[in-house]
Amino acid sequence: MNILLIGSGGREHALARKLARSPRLTKLYAAPGNPGIAQSAELIALDVADHQSVIAFCRKADVRFVVIGPEVPLVAGIVDDLAEAGIAAFGPNRAAARLEASKAFTKELCAEANIPTAAWRRFTDAAAAAAYIRTHGAPVVVKADGLAAGKGVTVATTLDEAVEAAADCFAGAHGGAGAEVVIEDLLVGEEASFFALSDGTNVIPFGTAEDHKRVGDGDTGPNTGGMGAVSPSGAITPPVAERIMSQIIGPTVAAMARRGTPFRGVLYAGLMLTAEGPKLIEYNVRFGDPEAQVLMSRLESDLLDLMLASSEGRLARVSPRWSDRAALTVVMAAKGYPGAYSRGGAVGGIESAEAMPDVTVFHAGTALRDGRLVANGGRVIDVTALGNTLAEAQAGAYAAVARIDFADGFCRRDIGDRALARETRAGPN
Ligand code: AMP
Ligand code: GLY
Repeated sequence: MNILLIGSGGREHALARKLARSPRLTKLYAAPGNPGIAQSAELIALDVADHQSVIAFCRKADVRFVVIGPEVPLVAGIVDDLAEAGIAAFGPNRAAARLEASKAFTKELCAEANIPTAAWRRFTDAAAAAAYIRTHGAPVVVKADGLAAGKGVTVATTLDEAVEAAADCFAGAHGGAGAEVVIEDLLVGEEASFFALSDGTNVIPFGTAEDHKRVGDGDTGPNTGGMGAVSPSGAITPPVAERIMSQIIGPTVAAMARRGTPFRGVLYAGLMLTAEGPKLIEYNVRFGDPEAQVLMSRLESDLLDLMLASSEGRLARVSPRWSDRAALTVVMAAKGYPGAYSRGGAVGGIESAEAMPDVTVFHAGTALRDGRLVANGGRVIDVTALGNTLAEAQAGAYAAVARIDFADGFCRRDIGDRALARETRAGPN
């Protein structure tokens, strides 16, 4: 079977490597891809936003299944257009992608299905939002309703900060995404990510991870797309996972089916593990980046098989197999990220890093220029290691980072420390 993978980041490189190993694969194409993905796939220069050109390519190349990495094409309805053309895909259609596209939509679904989440209100004008914030008090969380590439959320510690964040949303700081604003209570606890695969009716757990969203060591500085991740999450113990499935994931999939908009694909729940139990922070309707890099490093089952089962309604009969080892990824980013950064800095040492046991380097934002690998994005490479323990994975990843030559880059030095500190507190098991 010929497959087309859509996307160009480290997440898609991790998916490409797994897809390339499937015995069911004949040929893998990727659009637009990157130099790392090119090791596993033929790159196709398609304008992914032009769904008709994607369909025309699929027909020409006899592609029967399309895997969509990022949220933007999902929210734009690429799965609907492919389906109309008779081409199957992994990922939700536009109606089901609302779970990521609108925070208010998800909050309403939570209310309908009694899913634990922070108390919230929605607003369409700045004066009403400001009045509510002043009666609510700080801290409080202000969110642009729509897709804002991870930049639409302000965890405000003061009233003024919250009022200003809401005013910025309405003034267009996040474009159309901020025309509506959700204001919610601050949740306190440990943050962790839970993944599930759904075929619209059946839903199965699909791994856990912990992201490191802030740019600086010790979780300081601005939010980013993610500077590193570990999997599994030690905070999501088996009883917590059961609770997440029965109180959050299961009811969500059931409510979406009941509404006539079944969710197919991977559901990524951002959770706060509070004193009262796990609560939903937000949903994403795709794999995380860099969470996919650690998840795929641990997945032993055939990824293509699982994706086909999700698309074809066969998930009741599958159960993914995982390595019981730990995975850790360190993102190396261009200096200046998540603010302004320059492209074109040379990136070397990947082969030397990958010569180490259990190390993989995923390309996130790279390009080839005159035969040399250079940075071509904010997040540039993801240095990833497996270990028998999390400490071993961390040591392996940072030993590999030391072999990377990226003068214009930087990385956090504490990826995994939070999880390791928790292991220490919990004592040996
Ligand atoms: P989101 O884009 O909704 O995932 O929000 C980005 C980050 O803001 C999350 O990863 C959390 O760290 C934080 N956050 C969002 N909502 C809340 C909340 N209600 N309470 C505490 N932290 C939150
Ligand atoms: N790493 C966060 C995300 O993929 O949304």
